[in-house]
Amino acid sequence: MSVMKAVKVWEFPVRVIHWVNFLAITLLCITGIYIHYPFLASAEMPEAFIMGKMRLVHFVCGWALMIGVIGRIIWGIIGNKYARLRTFVPFTYASGRENLVAVLKYYTLITPRMPPRLGHNSMALMAYLGLFFCAAYQIISGFALFGQYDVAGTAYGLTGWVFGFMSNGYVRLIHYFMTYVFIAFAMFHVYAMWISDVAERDGTSGSMFNGIKYGDPNLEE
Ligand code: HEM
Repeated sequence: MSVMKAVKVWEFPVRVIHWVNFLAITLLCITGIYIHYPFLASAEMPEAFIMGKMRLVHFVCGWALMIGVIGRIIWGIIGNKYARLRTFVPFTYASGRENLVAVLKYYTLITPRMPPRLGHNSMALMAYLGLFFCAAYQIISGFALFGQYDVAGTAYGLTGWVFGFMSNGYVRLIHYFMTYVFIAFAMFHVYAMWISDVAERDGTSGSMFNGIKYGDPNLEE
């Protein structure tokens, strides 16, 4: 039988970055949808400058998301074993592959219990890897679209190469459609967090606040 202990799994920087990304993505989705479909625009009160404010919030949150993603990559190099970048590619090491098969069996109702693990399970880690690529696209395309006001500027200099692959219209269209990927992810993320808390009783839902999960600290991640 495995030992159940309270373990500090998510360190302070991981939790801060998680909530910065959460806030940034939430506001980016709301303001982005407004930029696409300005449902509050009113010809009667141009002085309210709603679109200008929405775009300002969008760009500030764009910076926050970029800093959050870079910060998480850095913490993935210097953080504890649960935060390591290697965990996000579980198919590249034995314990990750083992957990992947065991989680698949649980999700397909072949086994009745989730395999014990303190960090994220392998399926969740692969979803986060996918989301990382979506965020990377949003950041690069966002700064490229932003940089178009000054093609001699730094933003365009660093990201303008995307227009070599796709026209402005496609870069923007994918930036728009990606918004729904983030919304769908958020819905499933909350559901999965909740169900895992109920099924495993390992403190998942509180762990992004206090960092603590309950399980065996000696298990291989
Ligand atoms: C989760 C991340 C993000 C989401 C969900 C998101 C969403 C959106 C959406 C829905 C639009 C409107 C597209 C359209 O009109 O069809 C938009 C536009 C735009 N976004 Fe983002 N975005 C994200 C990240 C970023 C980042 C990191 C930046 C970088 C600064 C950025 C900069 C821009 C720019 C410059 C525009 C065009 C604004 C305009 O032309 O008025 N976005 N975004």
